[in-house]
Amino acid sequence: MSFRAYRIHSDNNTTHAGLERLSLSDLSAGNVVINASWSSVNYKDALAATGQGKILRHSPLVGGIDVAGVVIDSSSDEFLVGDEVLVTGAGLSEVYDGGYAEYVRVHSECVVALPKGLSPFEAMVMGTPAFTAALALHRMEENRQNPSYGPIVVTGASGGVGMLAVDIFATRGYEVVALTGKKEHSALLQQLGANRVLLRDELTMGKAALEQGLWGGAVDSVGGDILAWLARTTKERGNIASIGLVAGAELQTSVLPFILRSINLLGISSANCPATLRRKIWKRLGNELKPQHLDKIVHSVISLDELPQAFETMLAGKSIGRTVVKIG
Ligand SMILES: NC(=O)c1ccc[n+]([C@@H]2O[C@H](COP(=O)([O-])OP(=O)(O)OC[C@H]3O[C@@H](n4cnc5c(N)ncnc54)[C@H](OP(=O)(O)O)[C@@H]3O)[C@@H](O)[C@H]2O)c1
Repeated sequence: MSFRAYRIHSDNNTTHAGLERLSLSDLSAGNVVINASWSSVNYKDALAATGQGKILRHSPLVGGIDVAGVVIDSSSDEFLVGDEVLVTGAGLSEVYDGGYAEYVRVHSECVVALPKGLSPFEAMVMGTPAFTAALALHRMEENRQNPSYGPIVVTGASGGVGMLAVDIFATRGYEVVALTGKKEHSALLQQLGANRVLLRDELTMGKAALEQGLWGGAVDSVGGDILAWLARTTKERGNIASIGLVAGAELQTSVLPFILRSINLLGISSANCPATLRRKIWKRLGNELKPQHLDKIVHSVISLDELPQAFETMLAGKSIGRTVVKIG
């Protein structure tokens, strides 16, 4: 049996990627084989396929950090043939062959039973971004975050993580402020649950080590100067979830926000989340944390052939919401 797969070759500082025909024996080892129906486009996918980020630990690998589908072969006690499942992150397209293929072979500890209440398509509209936003919520609330602390500011708000974080935190009862560079999407962000929208161009970030406390907490997929500003403007005991780096990996801050306001900077890593917590969070995403506006968050549905254009748009900072990939 041969099938189509979008495979990335990354050697000696050169990267090329494209559709190839593979067979199961070409895929990395695993005890569960999934017939994939849907995948999605993430910033990490764009970095991996273009070589703009060093994501692959070895080469070649099939791209795609997310996948949903049906189990067609399993030697695991946990999953049976016919089970609907999903995998997000967990080393796909980093250590193991990923989800941009009609068949995906993985280790059972990466696999999550599709939560009741979610279709495979909805699971991929959500994908790694919803999981990451929910993991941020989980870690912040473990650290006592609650709506009484004040508004949660979500940066990179029109992106995948951003839109899902706006929806999930609003659903959970927080006042949400969306920070975006795209004025034209202000109304959409409000429809997702943002109480207010701040425009990046209109921000005055100031330079003092501590500035007026504005935020009860923050969900940041941007990094760089914005993250430093969040540290200066988060109120007492607030939590900042550091998720992404689209504006830069550097962070220049002083210790004052930490030692004078007791703020917490929480690192969020979806890829290496332990299986038990991963499954617990996905269960919540099918229940009380299910985003209310997935129909507005999905921006486009593409085929495997259209991946290169989607990566280009994403790396140019022009993508909106979620792009879902129809496999097969
Ligand atoms: N830690 C984890 O486990 C984890 C999981 C998922 C994603 N991530 C990371 O989170 C980040 C976002 O991922 P994503 O999939 O949501 O990407 P995305 O859909 O491309 O969204 C990124 C958003 O950031 C904003 N942005 C882009 N360039 C910017 C710049 N130069 N300065 C400030 N803002 C900029 C844009 O939104 P606005 O115009 O609305 O500001 C853009 O839509 C990436 O760095 C990704 O690698 C990390």
